[in-house]
Amino acid sequence: MRVLVLFAHPAQRNSSINVAMARQAQRLDGVTFVDLYAEYPRFSIDIDLEQRRLAEHDVIVFQFPVFWYSTPALLKQWQDLVLEYGFAYGPQGQKLAGKHVLASVTTGGSFTDYSTDGGNRRAFEQFLFPLEQTANLCGMTFLPPFVLHSANHLNSSEAQSHIEAYPKLLGALRDGTFDLGAARKLRVFDRTDLIELVRD
Ligand SMILES: Cc1cc2nc3c(=O)[nH]c(=O)nc-3n(C[C@H](O)[C@H](O)[C@H](O)COP(=O)(O)O)c2cc1C
Repeated sequence: MRVLVLFAHPAQRNSSINVAMARQAQRLDGVTFVDLYAEYPRFSIDIDLEQRRLAEHDVIVFQFPVFWYSTPALLKQWQDLVLEYGFAYGPQGQKLAGKHVLASVTTGGSFTDYSTDGGNRRAFEQFLFPLEQTANLCGMTFLPPFVLHSANHLNSSEAQSHIEAYPKLLGALRDGTFDLGAARKLRVFDRTDLIELVRD
């Protein structure tokens, strides 16, 4: 499958994990990588270019750190402008139907923070519902998110494992060795699940 990674991180000089993940994604053959903040520092999105990119790919990966329980602002701007009526939805707008969407996200909060009894009072995937429903409305399949919690409190080997898992995931999506059926039964997944989800 043709994989498009849309990376959104507004504070890359402070990033301990996403920038390293993004570097891995950039190196992969057959995966298109776009750094949205680098391309659109003034938020002036080239809608036609972005729509062409979407049309040319089968899997759209949104890679971002969770900021205030949501996507960074430029990724919201991208949704607001690119997913136009007549392109992404509406009677004549089915250009995205049948594609897959994957969110690759990192959070400062821990797994426990994202539970009914935790500080954030909800399971993590509930915070992605707007993105999930947006994909749904556009006829796309929203895969469970690839999540890294406690991203600011990892030891170097945990961080390295996640950074190395990311290109494996993207490569498996590209090569058709990622078990989409098994993944869709999960609420979220992380690097340890890739042992089951990626076929040799
Ligand atoms: C402005 C801002 C808002 C944040 N909001 C959240 C949040 O709502 N939930 C959460 O779990 N972490 C939040 N965080 C923590 C980030 O998600 C975390 O620092 C990031 O995922 C780490 O990845 P990085 O090292 O690549 O930046 C926030 C961080 C910043 C700077």
